[in-house]
Amino acid sequence: MRIIRTKDYREMSEKAADIFCSQIVSKPDSVLGLATGSSVLGLYEALVKIYRNGDLDFSEIKTVNLDEYIGLDGKSDQSYRYYMNVNLFSHVNIKPENTNLPDGLAKDIDEECKRYNDLIESFGGADVQLLGLGNNGHIGFNEPGDVFVKETHAIDLDESTITANARFFENESLVPKRAITMGVQNIMQAKQIVMCVSGIKKAKILKEVLFGDITPKVPGSILQLHPDFIVVADEEALSSIY
Ligand code: GLP
Repeated sequence: MRIIRTKDYREMSEKAADIFCSQIVSKPDSVLGLATGSSVLGLYEALVKIYRNGDLDFSEIKTVNLDEYIGLDGKSDQSYRYYMNVNLFSHVNIKPENTNLPDGLAKDIDEECKRYNDLIESFGGADVQLLGLGNNGHIGFNEPGDVFVKETHAIDLDESTITANARFFENESLVPKRAITMGVQNIMQAKQIVMCVSGIKKAKILKEVLFGDITPKVPGSILQLHPDFIVVADEEALSSIY
């Protein structure tokens, strides 16, 4: 594990963007594993800026996102498809058909999980997987539980996750209760993993994830076993460690 300590959110975003830029430049047909949430928003802004300077080409890039809410249309402004379109895809020359998220409106959710799992398998995992960190230690929507679930699956969201994510919705009752998420094997299969963590609210859980027991009760703790895991975190997020 490598920890890149930054002074603030902005520097965290720039450092993480540097890693993605190197990946895109060195392998123009990379498979990028992408994430949503506020921690990774600055990274997307940085990538779009670099793209506008003419320094990046997404024409052969493929993407696989971690997760999607069940029951939200891709056009709904709270869906992760919408987030990705608005914050990255519509600003760069990526081919829409090369961008992948689970379909939260699929009629047969089990079938959709299988399709998505097979897709990740067909890529052999992502070249680099981006992650945020949930307040309860979740990665993607792998919520705390008794076992690590390996493959893409549907999950009932934790009450704490629903409350945490309510800030993006008009009120908490509108937050979907279920989601489709990559499993831990899908994530761990990535050749490299980059996790962005910012702010004092994540300090305690980040310490548990990086240095606590490896347990499904703290899903992100599995990342300790990845051979190329980079944490890009600001001073506040690292304040329980250093
Ligand atoms: C959501 C996403 C996660 C993300 C987490 C943290 O629950 N499913 O992939 O890492 O939120 O979000 P934030 O970065 O906004 O704290």
